[in-house]
Amino acid sequence: MLSKIALHEVAGSNARLRTALSAADLATEDIEDEGRVFFEAVSGDGQTIGYAGLERCAADYLLRSVVVLPGRRGQGLGRAIVEATLQQFGGGEVYLATTSAAQFFSTIGFSEMARAEVPAPVLATRQLSSICPSSATIMKLTRPPT
Ligand SMILES: CC(C)(COP(=O)(O)OP(=O)(O)OC[C@H]1O[C@@H](n2cnc3c(N)ncnc32)[C@H](O)[C@@H]1OP(=O)(O)O)[C@@H](O)C(=O)NCCC(=O)NCCS
Repeated sequence: MLSKIALHEVAGSNARLRTALSAADLATEDIEDEGRVFFEAVSGDGQTIGYAGLERCAADYLLRSVVVLPGRRGQGLGRAIVEATLQQFGGGEVYLATTSAAQFFSTIGFSEMARAEVPAPVLATRQLSSICPSSATIMKLTRPPT
C-alpha cells in the first residue's frame, strides 16, 4: 500500500517546514528553540510528503509538528511518518498535544491522558504551557505502533 518513506533531519529554521506548519495551522513560534529535532519525510519517488518533530522533555519526548502535505493525506502517509519518527527517539515516553487529530493518533497507539498524569517537563514545554489551548487533548504512546 505504502511506498517507502525516508526521513531527513531539517533545522527548525527550514523555510519549507515553517510554510507547511503554518498552512496546517500548527505552531511555528518555538520551532527554532533548542531541544527540538525535525524531519522532512520524502517518498520513494523523491517527493516531500510531510514533516514531524520531536522535542526533548527531560527523560521523555513530545511528538509535535506532524503534518502531511495537502493532496497527500488519507493514504496512510501520516501514520508512516509518525512510525518512522518514533524510531528516532531514544527511550522514555512519548507525549503529544492535539486539538484536531486525537482520533488519528489513537489509531497509531496513543491514548488520552489527564493533565495531572503528565510529567512536569512535558507540561512545561511552550506547546503545552502556552501555545496549545488548555482544551487540547494530551496523549501518550501506550502501545507499540502497529
Ligand atoms: C492528521 C494528519 C497528519 C493525518 O495524516 P494522513 O496521512 O491523512 O493520515 P493516514 O492516512 O496515515 O491515517 C492513519 C489513520 O488515521 C485515520 N485518520 C487520519 N486523519 C484522521 C482524522 N482527521 N480524523 C479521524 N481519523 C483520521 C485514518 O482513517 C487512518 O485510520 P486506519 O489506519 O484505521 O485506516 C493530516 O491530516 C494532517 O497533516 N493534518 C493537518 C496537521 C495536523 O492536524 N497535524 C496533527 C496535529 S499535531
